[in-house]
Order: sequence, then C-alpha cells, then structure tokens
Amino acid sequence: AGVLPRLEVAPGDVDVLREAARTCTACPLHGPATQVVFGEGPRDARIVLIGEQPGDEEDRAGRPFVGPAGAVLDEALREAGVDRASVYVTNAVKHFRFEPRGKVRLHQTPRARDVAACRPWVEAELAALEPEWIVCLGATAAKALLGATFRVTQERGVVRATAWAPRTFATWHPSAVLRAASEEDARAMRSELVRDLAMITE
Ligand code: URA
Repeated sequence: AGVLPRLEVAPGDVDVLREAARTCTACPLHGPATQVVFGEGPRDARIVLIGEQPGDEEDRAGRPFVGPAGAVLDEALREAGVDRASVYVTNAVKHFRFEPRGKVRLHQTPRARDVAACRPWVEAELAALEPEWIVCLGATAAKALLGATFRVTQERGVVRATAWAPRTFATWHPSAVLRAASEEDARAMRSELVRDLAMITE
C-alpha cells in the first residue's frame, strides 16, 4: 500500500462517509459480501476501535462487532470501565471476506490489497473524528495504521502518536482470545486486552 494523502473531511462527517461507502467497489469483496459494514458510534467519540473486517454476523447485520468477537469485546470494555456507547467502532476492511463451505461462510483474512483499497475510508473516518485514542484490535488494523512490520505480540499496549491521534496503540483482537490454544492462554490474553483497554480511561 502506498502512502495516501490525508483526506479533508469536515469534523463529524462520518454519516456522509457511511452513505458514500455503501456503493464502494474498490476491492473485489463487494461482490460476495452482503453489504458494507461501516463504522458506528458518536460523532464526537474520543476513542476509535479498529478491528479487522466484519464477520459472518456483522455482514448480515450491517454493524461491526455484533457477533462472538463483539461479545468478547463488549465484556472486555465493560471490565475496563469503557462505555461502548461512547466509542466509535470500525474495521480496517469494510466487507466480509470469506470462503463458502457448504452452508457456512468461513472467515478469510483480508489480503494486503483489500486493506489498501479500504484504507481511504479508515483514514477519512479518522480525519472526521479526530479522536484522542485509536486502538488497533489485532494485526490487520495494527499493520494498516502502524506499519507492515508491526508485531502485536511484541508491541502490544505501547502507546504512540500517529498522524490521526496523539495516542494510538494495538492490542489483541477479541477473536484471538476465542482462538487461543489453551484456556490458560485465553485467560491471559483476555486480561491483557482488558488491561490495555483500561489505559484509555486513565
Ligand atoms: N471481527 C472484526 O475484526 N470486526 C468485526 O466487526 C467483527 C469481528
């Protein structure tokens, strides 16, 4: 992905962006996916959470983080003392990428070119929101915003300034907690996720 110019968007214009994104065909995912799942949350949100891409349930509902990963996220936010209603939640890629397998649609990680195609939307959301905090949930969002060599395992919870917010950091994706190799790993990742999210209330 090349470095794109920062888009000029009036503060709070996320509703305009959401409407414009509905017909986006910048990547091939718009064909099989049900709909664009744009970010949602208050126009004056101080905190933006960025996930990877909508999952099966999000694709059907048209809203981010409403499926199993969303349940983990909601609980982690609650424990961290962050009100989800005050947070803007979005994804690095706004269409569901999947492989049909009989009746089920198996999640596939978006390709770098899907992330690159969607990046102007993420940048426009951030330019419109001007948040104080950006939290990248997982590697896809972290690489999109913090660079292709970013490793969540090594740099989780490290807060830095970026072009879009004075405080940006990455943490575990809620799905990583669900996919953890053992109960013990899941517990550890979950508590790290909560601890990282609690930084934004300080
Ligand atoms: N996983 C994500 O990264 N985003 C969603 O919206 C749902 C699951």
